[in-house]
Amino acid sequence: MALSPQWLDELRSRVTLSTLIGRTVKITRAGREYKACCPFHNEKTPSFTINDEKGFYHCFGCSAHGDAIRWMTDQRGLSFMDAVKELAAEAGMEVPALDPRAAKKAEAQASLRDVTQAAADWFAQQLDSSNGAPARDYLTKRGISEATRRAFGFGLAPDSRSALKEALKTFPTAMLVESGMLISVEDKEPYDRFRGRLMIPIRDARGRIIAFGGRILGDGEPKYLNSPDTPLFDKGRTLFNLDKASPASRQTGRIVVVEGYMDAIALAEAGIADAVAPLGTALTENQLGMLWRMVPVPILCFDGDAAGQKAAMRAAARALPLLRPGFSLAFATLPAGQDPDDLVRAKGADGFTAILDDAQPLVERLWAHEVAAGPLATPEERAALKTRLLTHADAIEDADVRHHYREAFRERLDALFTRARPERGPRVPWAPQQRGGRRFGPDPRLQPPGEETRSIGQAGIAAPLAAALIGGLLRHPQAIRRNEEALARLAIPDSGDAELLGAMLDIANGQEGLDTEGLLAILEPMKVYNRATTLLRADGMHFSFNRRLEDGEGAAAARETALRDLDEYIGVLVTQPEIRARLAEATADFQRTMDEEGLARQQKLRAMDEDLTRRLAALSDSSQG
Ligand code: UTP
Ligand code: MN
Repeated sequence: MALSPQWLDELRSRVTLSTLIGRTVKITRAGREYKACCPFHNEKTPSFTINDEKGFYHCFGCSAHGDAIRWMTDQRGLSFMDAVKELAAEAGMEVPALDPRAAKKAEAQASLRDVTQAAADWFAQQLDSSNGAPARDYLTKRGISEATRRAFGFGLAPDSRSALKEALKTFPTAMLVESGMLISVEDKEPYDRFRGRLMIPIRDARGRIIAFGGRILGDGEPKYLNSPDTPLFDKGRTLFNLDKASPASRQTGRIVVVEGYMDAIALAEAGIADAVAPLGTALTENQLGMLWRMVPVPILCFDGDAAGQKAAMRAAARALPLLRPGFSLAFATLPAGQDPDDLVRAKGADGFTAILDDAQPLVERLWAHEVAAGPLATPEERAALKTRLLTHADAIEDADVRHHYREAFRERLDALFTRARPERGPRVPWAPQQRGGRRFGPDPRLQPPGEETRSIGQAGIAAPLAAALIGGLLRHPQAIRRNEEALARLAIPDSGDAELLGAMLDIANGQEGLDTEGLLAILEPMKVYNRATTLLRADGMHFSFNRRLEDGEGAAAARETALRDLDEYIGVLVTQPEIRARLAEATADFQRTMDEEGLARQQKLRAMDEDLTRRLAALSDSSQG
């Protein structure tokens, strides 16, 4: 049954979501919305919000999210159609029977499916017959096992202009032509399209056969012949192996795009089931959309040769306008002249996986390509590089993503053309913990916040954290100077502590190679001195940099650990209030818009905040043992 989006919208608009939800959950009004304790997870304070205007509910605790229909399926456990029927009955709407035109189209498609399936069955039979021996040998030579052959439904089209037509004569000739199985040219009898080819069924997302690819056995032109576009098959909207790869990708959290369908099949043979292939064309917008519905960062594989790398840049260019927060591409580069089929047969699944693990994020790919594209010796050449990069960034339609691309390119350009400043450079102490973790997640690095978010962030850091910080800096004064920028940005809530830190920054700024004793000597005449000695004595805190270091064996290593921890600690202290300010902003935005983009942004920031909290905890734990 096909329900039009318009009809479903009408249904949603007639249902008052709060009334519906209010039947099973106690809700209270909060401004223009309703709040409740979330029915999808256990909580005592309500973080479940219902917005009648938008027709959405959302839980800020567990991210449960949906509309009236989703509520009926997820909370009441109904099927989609039952949910629709129940809501429609209540809204006084009739669930439409299919309109006659749609019904006719569905019927025609169904019969085309029957033809296509019948053809597939017959091709498979041919491959199994004695005529199929050479084709079976060919598959064996290519390392395709019988199990894989059957799983993909391989078949054989005999070298004849009429064998299929004859075998499927129970179907009207017009239908065989419409399904692409026969070719019809004026004045001539329609004849078999696929002759003397190994047949590979192409399926839709639900696994129904909609077309075929035919590979010539041995050499000859064209190597591959595909079904033409038909009412069932639109090659720009189809990905080969999607029906198998989509469930596999839910297991792996990954989707791999290769160029040829024999590549996808060879990978499946090797146990890599989450690979799809377009059908002989560059990825279309529609196909990119299909990939992004599976995972946020699909991995595209390209040959390392010049043609492959050109294709990679074409795919990158196609994707740029479509980027959204959290959604990107990664690029895996194969050794020149090898396709995934060659590689997996030479190096096994592990060899191929290693290449996937080395995939470059889109931003990296663009950067690497443009830097390698020409000489960078003169100011003009450097300016041209900048122009090329910013042109890529400008192709991005999403303002947030575009902004971050511009910043990322500017940062890289600065780093490339500025002589590295030793020691004193304003280092960024907080490097994201990406290496061991999720490789292809959204980049957690944020640009420095704008003025407005910075001022919200001025709420400051908790007093005990500030005390631990200053105590640590007193014990390890060499950390002051190299974190100068970050420390100057910190909002210290206690005015005495703020004054002390300010004095320490001034002193460190004027004097190289300062140690604790030297620092205290300069502080002594000031009124912050007492506070300094108190903080220095408070060495019972959980951080390594608050501990007194005993002389003797291991002291150097302990000092090094303490310094490293202190740097990281400062990074977290600086970053977290900014992230939280942005999180508050994003949450407020999302509460207003209730759209997917806002949700993605809010979720990303929340994950960053959690990550920082975890790192703070890890710092205090690590020094307790
Ligand atoms: P390749 O020639 O790279 O395919 O074309 P392949 O998978 O490595 O083929 P084998 O290993 O020699 O069997 C990649 C894709 O381009 C399309 C097909 O979709 C193929 O999978 N193609 C290629 C055509 O449509 N027609 C052709 O003549 C060649
Ligand atoms: Mn190949």
